[in-house]
Amino acid sequence: MIKGKPEPNMNRRDILKSAGLLPLAPATNELITTTAARKRSLRFAYLGDTHIFPDKKPMDGVANCLQHVQQQRDKPAFILHGGDVIMDALKEDREKVQKQWDAWHSVAKANNNLPIEYCIGNHDVWGFDNAQNDPLYGKKWAIDQMGISGRYRSFNKGGWQFIILDSVQPKADGKWYTGGIDAEQLDWLKGELAKIDKKTPVLIMSHIPIVSVTGFAFATNAKDGNWQIPGGIALPDAAQLITLFYQHPNVKACLSGHMHLLDRAEYNGVTYLCNGSVAGNWWKDATYQQTHSGYALFDLYDDGTVERTYISV
Ligand SMILES: [Fe+2]
Repeated sequence: MIKGKPEPNMNRRDILKSAGLLPLAPATNELITTTAARKRSLRFAYLGDTHIFPDKKPMDGVANCLQHVQQQRDKPAFILHGGDVIMDALKEDREKVQKQWDAWHSVAKANNNLPIEYCIGNHDVWGFDNAQNDPLYGKKWAIDQMGISGRYRSFNKGGWQFIILDSVQPKADGKWYTGGIDAEQLDWLKGELAKIDKKTPVLIMSHIPIVSVTGFAFATNAKDGNWQIPGGIALPDAAQLITLFYQHPNVKACLSGHMHLLDRAEYNGVTYLCNGSVAGNWWKDATYQQTHSGYALFDLYDDGTVERTYISV
């Protein structure tokens, strides 16, 4: 070929490319746009931090929220409860805790027809000082009330794998609680992720956030000019989990509750979503910080994308 003259069968793109005038191939996936039509796999409703107790305000509030979910025209297939079902079992005696669970069951029975999948929250754990030898002490009571197979588990819905974690741990002195994923559970999680088909998108639910913007919403966490985010607010195991998810790119979304705040963070191709609360400011006000009480509708798609619509109630 004569220098400066195009080969006879070169098109305009080839000419530009040879002249270095076309951009290089995109370096990361985020620059690639796809025209393939995605298909919705599943819609579910996320409700969390209901903090119910046998008083009119929380019982009416939870009933109203459940009714709102049932009236959705595009109805969710099930409810995922993100934990803190009841006001507080941590320091209450047996009678008071039983009344809170009874309040939940009576309101749910009267106002909900959808299946409910639960995640354990810190306030669902029974930590009453004098109950340490009771068979229901700790998480056993919540597991029974929620009718779940164990404190962590995995199931498939609509082609997505749901992994429900237990993010609430006793502190070093045995008292409740701090955030964390214990060694036994972490081993199970690694095995579970290894078993799941790489084409199956994975959604992870932990009551306490793994990655969240919300820890930075409190001035008290910036003590003496340094950020101090307690382990009870964001999991101290975050770096380990982030590394694990990086090895499994089919992990697409991590949901949390706990903070009663709404956020969304994208990191390493995973969308981390903290999902407000039904109780707002623990039923004192409808708004906590700047987040109104509400629930979320989640649409999951076959290409691993997730859409959330937060509905204030
Ligand atoms: Fe809560």
